[in-house]
Parts: sequence; C-alpha cells; structure tokens
Amino acid sequence: MVDVLTIVFAFFLIYGAFASNTNATAISTFTYNTIPPYEAFGVKQLPNVYNKSAVDANEVAHGYTLVNVSSTNRGLTGILKLRGATNIYGYDFEILNLTVEYQSCKRLNVHIEPTNLTDVYVLPDNLVPKPKLEQESKEESSRTTLNFADSDLVFDYIEENFGFEISRASTGEVLFSTVGNPLVFSNQFIQLNTSLPQNHTIKGLGETFGGSINEPGSVRTLYANGASDPINGNLYSVHPVYYDQRYDSNTTHAVYWRSSAIQEVVIGEESLTWRALSGIIDLYFFSGPIPKDAVSQYVTTIGLPCMQPYWALGYHQSRWGYATLKELKTVVENFKKFDIPLETIWTDIDYMDNYKDYTTDPVRYPAAEFKDFLLELHNNSQHYVPNMDAGIYVPNPNNATDNDYPPFHQGNDSDIFIMNPDGSLYIGAMWPGYTAWPDYIKNESTTYIGNQLAAWYEEVAFDGLMTDENEISSFCVGSCGSGKISDNPVRRASTPAAEQAFPLGFNVTNATEYSAINASYYATAKLLSPSSTVSSLLSSSATTSLDGHNTLKPGKGNINYPPYAINNAQSDHDLATHAVAMNATHHDGTVMYDVRNIYGFLQNKAIYRGLVELHPNKRPFIIGRSTFAGSGKYVGTWGGDNVANYFSMYFSIPQAIAFGSFGVPFFGADVCGYGENTDMELCSRWMQLGSFLPFFRNHNEIGRISQEPYVWEAVANASRASIGVRYSLLPYYYTLMHEAHVTGLPYIRSLSFQFPYDKLLRGIDNQFFVGDALIVTPVLEPGVNYTKGVFPGVDNTTVYYDFYTRSRMNFTAGTNETLAASLGHIPLHIRGGYIIPTQKPGYTIAESRLNPFQLIVALDRHGSALGRLYLDDGESIDVDKSLMVKLAANDNKLVAIPVGEYNASQPLDTITILGIEAKPNSVKFNGASVDYTFNGTTVFITRLDKFTQSGAFAKRFEVEWD
Ligand SMILES: *[C@@H]1O[C@H](CO)[C@@H](O)[C@H](O)[C@H]1NC(C)=O
Ligand SMILES: *[C@@H]1O[C@H](CO)[C@@H](O)[C@H](O)[C@H]1NC(C)=O
Ligand SMILES: *[C@@H]1O[C@H](CO)[C@@H](O)[C@H](O)[C@H]1NC(C)=O
Ligand SMILES: *[C@@H]1O[C@H](CO)[C@@H](O)[C@H](O)[C@H]1NC(C)=O
Repeated sequence: MVDVLTIVFAFFLIYGAFASNTNATAISTFTYNTIPPYEAFGVKQLPNVYNKSAVDANEVAHGYTLVNVSSTNRGLTGILKLRGATNIYGYDFEILNLTVEYQSCKRLNVHIEPTNLTDVYVLPDNLVPKPKLEQESKEESSRTTLNFADSDLVFDYIEENFGFEISRASTGEVLFSTVGNPLVFSNQFIQLNTSLPQNHTIKGLGETFGGSINEPGSVRTLYANGASDPINGNLYSVHPVYYDQRYDSNTTHAVYWRSSAIQEVVIGEESLTWRALSGIIDLYFFSGPIPKDAVSQYVTTIGLPCMQPYWALGYHQSRWGYATLKELKTVVENFKKFDIPLETIWTDIDYMDNYKDYTTDPVRYPAAEFKDFLLELHNNSQHYVPNMDAGIYVPNPNNATDNDYPPFHQGNDSDIFIMNPDGSLYIGAMWPGYTAWPDYIKNESTTYIGNQLAAWYEEVAFDGLMTDENEISSFCVGSCGSGKISDNPVRRASTPAAEQAFPLGFNVTNATEYSAINASYYATAKLLSPSSTVSSLLSSSATTSLDGHNTLKPGKGNINYPPYAINNAQSDHDLATHAVAMNATHHDGTVMYDVRNIYGFLQNKAIYRGLVELHPNKRPFIIGRSTFAGSGKYVGTWGGDNVANYFSMYFSIPQAIAFGSFGVPFFGADVCGYGENTDMELCSRWMQLGSFLPFFRNHNEIGRISQEPYVWEAVANASRASIGVRYSLLPYYYTLMHEAHVTGLPYIRSLSFQFPYDKLLRGIDNQFFVGDALIVTPVLEPGVNYTKGVFPGVDNTTVYYDFYTRSRMNFTAGTNETLAASLGHIPLHIRGGYIIPTQKPGYTIAESRLNPFQLIVALDRHGSALGRLYLDDGESIDVDKSLMVKLAANDNKLVAIPVGEYNASQPLDTITILGIEAKPNSVKFNGASVDYTFNGTTVFITRLDKFTQSGAFAKRFEVEWD
C-alpha cells in the first residue's frame, strides 16, 4: 500500500514538472492511459537454488532401470523403466526410450524421451535443426558393433539405476558421467547430473554478464529475459552448450543440449547438474580435443555464422533519444566535421509514430525529409539502421486515426498472432501500448513480416535492422490488454518521463516549447531513473506465497508456476514478469513455456528471409537481441543494456568471447555504456576497446548525456586513432569473418583458447586475441596511464611486436608486463608468425576499399610467417567471384599466391617485415630491386604500386631479401 502511494506521488511530481515547464495546452492534449503498475509484476517466487528446504531430486529420486538394450548400426537403443515414482517437481514418466548414436568420429548423441509423447514437447527439426548424421560410408553402414570404431567418444552405461558415461577413446578419460546419480524425468522437471574433475574449467551456458568461467557455486539460468545486464543473471539469449577445458589431459570437449526448454545449470566443485522444465533429453557431445576443434565442431553443427556485408565492420553510432530527424542530421554532420568515420547512423524507437513498428513520426521524422536524408546518406556511402520491436500495436477500434494501422490488421486477418489458451488474441504491452506478437512457428508469419518490411522499405530505405525486445518482453503480466484495447495507446507506468513527455503531433518548430519539453526530459528522467522505477518500488512488496501456486499438475503441468522455480533475474522471479506469459499459445498448440527461448531466433530467421526476398542475394544486416543456438546464421548481436562503468566495459570482453563460442561471433557491446552517464575518460577507453570487437557501436539511453565521440576532444582524438587502426585492419577482419563463416571459429579469442595448455591463462579475460595474430590489452580502470597484460608463448619461443612502432618486444612468458597506455592509446601487439593484410583507411568502408593494400609480415623466431586474405564483393550471399590469397614467409622470402577470380584492382603499397636482425643488402619484388629502409628490426618496403598496377593480388608475387 505504501508503495502504491509512493508511485502515485511520483507521477504527480512528473505531471507537476511538465505543468511548470511547458505550455499547459500542449500538455492537456496528451493525457495517456497507463498500464496499472501492479500489472507489471507477477507472483513472487522463491528460486529453488535459494530455497534451503527444497528437496534435492538427486538425493531422493530412484532413477530408472535400462532394459532391452540392442545395438544399431550407429549405436544402441534401450528402454528405461522407472524404479519408483517420487514426483518431486513434476509427475515422473514410467517408460523412456534411450537412443545413442555415433554421428561422426567427433560427435555422439544421447537421446532420451518418454515412449508416450502426449503432452511432451519435442523440438521439431524445422524450428531448430537436428544435427545431421555424417554421411555413412559403405563399410560403416554394415557395422553392427556398439562402438563406432573411429569415434573418439565412447558410450558406456550401467543398467540398474541407469547411468551413462562418455569417455575419450584416445585417453580413456571420462568426460561425462551420470553414474551414481539417478536420472529424473518428469513432465516439468528433467535432471541429469554429471561428475566433473576437481578444479574444472566450464565455459559457456549463456547468455550471462560476468566472467568467462562458471566457477563452483555458479547457477546458470537459461531463460530468455529482458533485463538490464544483471551480473550472472539470465539474459536475452539462451545458449545451452558448455565447454569443458581440462588442463590435466590438455583436452577440451563440448556438450550441447538441443532443447528450447527453460533450463537451469548448477555448477558444483565436482559436478554439473543440468535441469530442464520440459521437453526431452537430446544431448550432443563434441570431442575437440582442442578448444578450436570443439568450437568449430559445435558451431558447424548448429549452423555456421553468416557473412555480414563488408560495411557492417564500419563504425556505428546510435542512441535512444535522437528525438528528431534534425538532430540525427546534426549528428551525421558532426562526425564529418570532426573527421571521425561514421559508417552507419541508427535510430532507436524515437523515429516511430507513437512507437509503432513500420511507421515514422510525422512531426519528428517527416517522411519526405527522411527520404531525402537517406538518399544523401546513401550517396555518401553511409548507412541507416532503425530499431524494430517484436510486438505489433493493437490499435484502438474506437479511434479511426489510431485504427488505421495496416500492420496489425493484416496480421490479424491472416491470423498469425499468438493467442490466449482460449484462442482469443494474446495482448500484452510494449512501447506503443497494448501489443500482439506474430507466431513464428506458423509459416504465414514469415510471409507477413516479409510483406511488412517490403512495404515499409518503400517509405524508409533502411540498410539493416536492430531487432529489439524479442526475448519476448512485455511490460505487463499476462494478456493484460484483453478487453482493454479501447484504452490504447497506453504507456507503461515506469516509462522514463522523457518518453512520456512527447505529445503526438507536437510542433517542434515551436522552439520555446521544444526546449521546455526537452529540459523536462532530463528533470523527470532523473526522477524516474532505473533506481527509482516502479519495478524497484514494487519488488519488495510482492509477497504472495509460492505454496499456493507452484503445485504439481498432470499433462503439460503447471506451466505458469512450475513446481521448480528457476532463479529468473526479475525482482519477483516470476516467469511472466517483463515477458509474454507461459500460457500464450501458438497456432499449432505450442505454449510459450516450451519455446520462449527460441522466439527471437525464429523471428530473426523470418526477418532474414524477408530481407532476402526484398533484396535477392544481398546479405541482410540484422543485429538481434535474443539469440539461440544457430542464430549466428542470421544475425549478429550486442550485449544488451550495460551501464556506463568500468566493469561493464571489462565484461564486454568475456561477452564477446562467449558469443564467439556460441556461434554468434559478430558481437559488440554498447560502447561508452548504455545506462547512466558516461564520462570522457571511460568513453575514450571504451571507444578504443570497442574498435577491436567485430560489431562496433556506440549506443545509449534516453535522458543520458550525449556520448558521440566528438563530444569531448580527447575522445575524438582517441577514436580517430583507434578507428584508423581498425579501418586499416579491415581486410584482416573481413578474412576473419570469412573464416568464421566456413569454420565456425570466432574473431575474438581468449588467451586460453589460443594457448590451451597453459593453465596460468585459464581465467584471463582482460585481454584478447583478434584472430591468431593480434592481441589487445585495453585499459579497464580509471586514472591510470598504464595497463598490464601477459604475452603467452610456449617456452618463450613466441615473439610479439608493438603494432604502432613495429618493434620487437622483450616479453617473458608467464610475466605480467606493464605497458604504457596514456589516455588515447590502446596497446596492440602482433604475434610473430603471422602476416596481416591491411588497407589505407578512408572515411567510409567504401572509400577504404578503394585504397591501396599493405602487408605486415611479423616473423617468428625461425623467420617464418603465414597469413591469408579473403575478398569478395562484400555484399552477395551467393558469392560469384572471390579471392583467397595465401601468404607465406620463410627463408628470407615472402610468397603471395592468389586463388580465385575476384579482382581487387587496388595496388599494393607497402610491405613491412618485422623481426629482421640486420639490414638486408637487397630487397627484390619478383626479381626487381625495390625501395626499402631498415630500422631496428623492421624492413619497410615502399612504392610497390608500380609493380602492382593491375591489382595487389592479381598475380602471384615473391619478395626476397638477404
Ligand atoms: C500553447 O500552445 C497552444 C497550442 O499550440 C497555443 O494555441 C497557445 O497559444 C500556446 N500558449 C502559450 C501561452 O504559448
Ligand atoms: C525408441 O526410439 C527408436 C528411435 O527413434 C525407435 O526406433 C523405437 O521404435 C523406439 N522404441 C519405443 C519402444 O518407443
Ligand atoms: C499417453 O498419455 C496420455 C496422457 O498423458 C494418456 O491419456 C494416454 O492414455 C497415454 N497413452 C498410452 C498408450 O499409454
Ligand atoms: C585442485 O586445486 C587445489 C588447490 O590448488 C589442489 O590442492 C588440488 O590438488 C587440485 N586437485 C586436482 C585434482 O588437481
């Protein structure tokens, strides 16, 4: 009661603030209905992992007995019989069917499902592809023995109190073992418990915000959640896979549970307990044995990441709060004025008409001017990406203007929206008000969204999309809009005042009024900043007992309040808080409970298809918030709503590394911080760090200070420097993008990924490799002019060079080196043994691509180096002509061998060779003497353009020095 009063008081203050600052007439024209604040919260849940009196299923369950085991060509099958029901968090299934399949030498599948599948959700292959069998050879198909002889993985089992073990054939080590722990399989609770070696290193199980290792005591909740980056809590994406990196045997393997169910994983000192609240067991084991193999095997299996358009590698500027087109234009102009490369300008929901998808605000972003703006932007080879929310506004049928919203009516007429259990429209709430969501299990939704995008493209020639809120978030619990759509447009009670403030049709040319409203943004945004939102006010008072709710139910069970309560990172832990509810129903009968975790994945896939229809053979550029196993095939992603502080900047590194291992390698965090106000120093450091992540975007929240890099001189300087480095490295990044696309390997690699046998590197995530050749050591704390890092190398044989000076470093493996890093400098080193293709940077990607190429040849201690360059037109899905240049240096000679048809007509400009002991007597390009200088241990070869007028890599070439 007290809290409700507080809220009323808070709102009184907001309206009071408007009244004192603005034209009262204008204010009176926008009296919005608000969603009652109590509708934003569900029933307080006590998460099982915090419930001291909760029953441990592992202690009391009786498990199953395996009978009728028989061999198959690829493994075995058998029947599991319940040894006695305990029905702890669901009703136990009596009979299960076990199938084990050796799918390739490196992959094994363990599949357990009830024989009676009525009410059991089995994830269909057409939603999330089932890993395919590797083609059987003739001999293999006649094999009847249990052990698929070439497999590096061996399945073993015990029958009574059924348990199984996966071990590695080559070493005998046990990788996974449920032996001794009962299998629990009920309608709402499935549990597997594997033992782990002491001092294990378990990575993965995302998405989360924190360090990269799941240390003992970690709980990983796998439930798509629209929360603002709570540390170690569940977030937007779900990736049910872990990597087990072992330092005793120097091996790494991966385990993937192909399940869209709500899951929770508890990591113990010597155990991993994996729980799912529905579905079946469909586990895939990948044998590695090095991290690169394990990641590549997993990502290849779930779906290799797409090629992004080349321009996606450019610098992106965004914010929530580019209130008008005029403001947006000024931002683009300012970048040019301050000579900071801007590839893509983004808008958040500000451009929309009352936050409805596929609209533009007639006053703030007038259609004709918007078209002109985009035309000019495109003429300058720049790009525009708008935000798009997952929900479709349900217009008010009693208001003809409001009701004139075809995207809803077209969807409703083709019956594609998610329903209530009784078949009526499910109506939650998003930014525009009461909202419905397309059902992407239904094929017509793909057609629907394709049509919407195509129609809207006629109005707004967007170059890509940010797909937001697709976890899917809803601002109220349940179908709160049912029976209330005549209240639309409604606002959520806790909407930042800045967003409440803009009246429909507000005349921005009235400068006085505009600045008054603008000023009130900040005053009131502060009042309702996240720390004082309704959510935090209410969280402590939602006290409904959980006993009345979390009861066992047969059939599909109690899907709104499952008996096992996960630790959902919402204040009340209710599954329905800030989410579309669990009983929301798809047209084939599937309930949200079973598929929430793949909603964003299915939506992004549909959008991808729609964009390919719209622009045949052009790579769609989609940055999606909620991803699942296989999303990388369609989208890149960002790290969600972080905060402008040093630990958020730091955590962007483990985030990037994790998303690489999830097969969504095109990742970036909101540079300079999304929530709260950034500052000059933080933004300077972050712009420089962000320059090296694959997706590079500065983005922040409405009501915060502006944080474009030109706002501070020091940040502008730092950004120019690091963006210059990034743009010079574009050919290297693009080659990494291609490598990710064909092998699944990420661009951003941890030190323990690159040097998996060095235990000292186990938890290091304040530094990272970009590909194999570059290591970045950012500054992650305020007030310092140095940073520290380690430079791994096997027995000190690895050599590193400073990227900027090209000089050889005297690093010692295993030593924490101190590196000078005054503001505006980010330490970057090249690992000896690699050749890096570069290109002179231009203002845009298009300009950069027209500039001459260069090569940096960083020799290892034996005078050798290897590298590659991949090029194509940068935009086709089916690439007609490509070029792969193989680069190798050895014995005082560099050879470049181009393979492929793509003609990069830009000449070669310079080659820099690092790690040469003495000045060479001569340097020859294809036998002809060339200009060069020598300094320290570096040879600079210049003016190679005269030899390469038909294109740097049009022909094979050799460079010799002695
Ligand atoms: C307030 O705005 C209204 C509507 O634009 C206008 O008619 C009126 O003159 C304004 N009043 C003042 C005091 O500026
Ligand atoms: C168990 O599953 C296998 C593989 O899908 C199938 O061939 C077999 O018929 C099933 N057995 C029972 C008893 O359901
Ligand atoms: C399968 O289960 C459903 C309900 O859970 C039950 O109605 C049905 O009789 C069962 N079928 C068989 C063959 O046991
Ligand atoms: C695990 O680490 C502890 C502490 O470093 C050590 O005492 C123990 O021997 C280690 N156990 C194994 C199996 O390596």
